[in-house]
Amino acid sequence: MQKLKDKVILITGANRGIGKSLVKAALGKGAAKVYATSRNISKIPDFDDDRVVPLALDITNSKQIAEILERTRDVQILINNAGSLRPGTILEGEKSRMEEDMQTNYHGTVDMMRQFASVLEKNAPSKIVNIVSIVAYSPFPSIAGYSASKAALFSASLSVRTELSKRGVMIQIVNPGAIDTDMNKGSDWDMPKPDNVAKIIMDRVETDELEIIPDTRGLTMFSAWRQEPSNLAAIFDKIYHG
Ligand SMILES: NC(=O)c1ccc[n+]([C@@H]2O[C@H](COP(=O)([O-])OP(=O)(O)OC[C@H]3O[C@@H](n4cnc5c(N)ncnc54)[C@H](OP(=O)(O)O)[C@@H]3O)[C@@H](O)[C@H]2O)c1
Repeated sequence: MQKLKDKVILITGANRGIGKSLVKAALGKGAAKVYATSRNISKIPDFDDDRVVPLALDITNSKQIAEILERTRDVQILINNAGSLRPGTILEGEKSRMEEDMQTNYHGTVDMMRQFASVLEKNAPSKIVNIVSIVAYSPFPSIAGYSASKAALFSASLSVRTELSKRGVMIQIVNPGAIDTDMNKGSDWDMPKPDNVAKIIMDRVETDELEIIPDTRGLTMFSAWRQEPSNLAAIFDKIYHG
């Protein structure tokens, strides 16, 4: 079991939503240092804590990842949280928006894992925590590009888990259902606040759980899928068709 106390943690997309809450939760756990990254450094909130090191990072910019890596070579836990959601169906959604989600959620996160793997191996025992989504198990058609990008990221995370299993780097996958952040702006669903969810995520990261579903709605969906994969497809079908 790896406690977060005294660990050096890097969190992407730390300026708002779940990422911002994960920074607070990491500090609450007694992390030694938290690299809080955002594509716009001026948007990173003041966490009023000397352990926070703000850094500019767009995960779709490979050169910038390489630069950040040089400044964070003591990182022990990489939390790939940054992500984008552009709504749209496969048949009618804008192709460029689907490509954007794939670029960020899949290619960007894969690039992070590729570039940080050797540093994490050197700092082992270490971890990569990928914030994926419940739609990795079964797609929700209104956000089809996003769903595909998260399914691809889920698959890549499983591949990397095997690649790194003998090298001291654990891969944990977080698959939330629906959390009350900007990503769900306009939804009338009753959703948990990111601060509460981030605390649950960090508790479960410490217990070395490989697949973490941090919210009740996500758990209901996960249970349906685990019982029989078409059950989750049926839930999404019902929501999609009203
Ligand atoms: N909210 C949910 O219900 C839910 C459910 C399942 C999974 N998730 C996942 O949880 C993660 C956090 O989402 P959230 O709900 O907190 O959404 P959010 O409030 O929209 O935050 C998304 C974060 O990702 C950052 N980001 C987007 N593209 C980026 C890029 N190219 N490089 C670096 N940072 C980038 C955003 O930065 P800017 O401010 O610069 O845009 C922002 O900090 C995402 O991976 C999301 O897919 C969320």
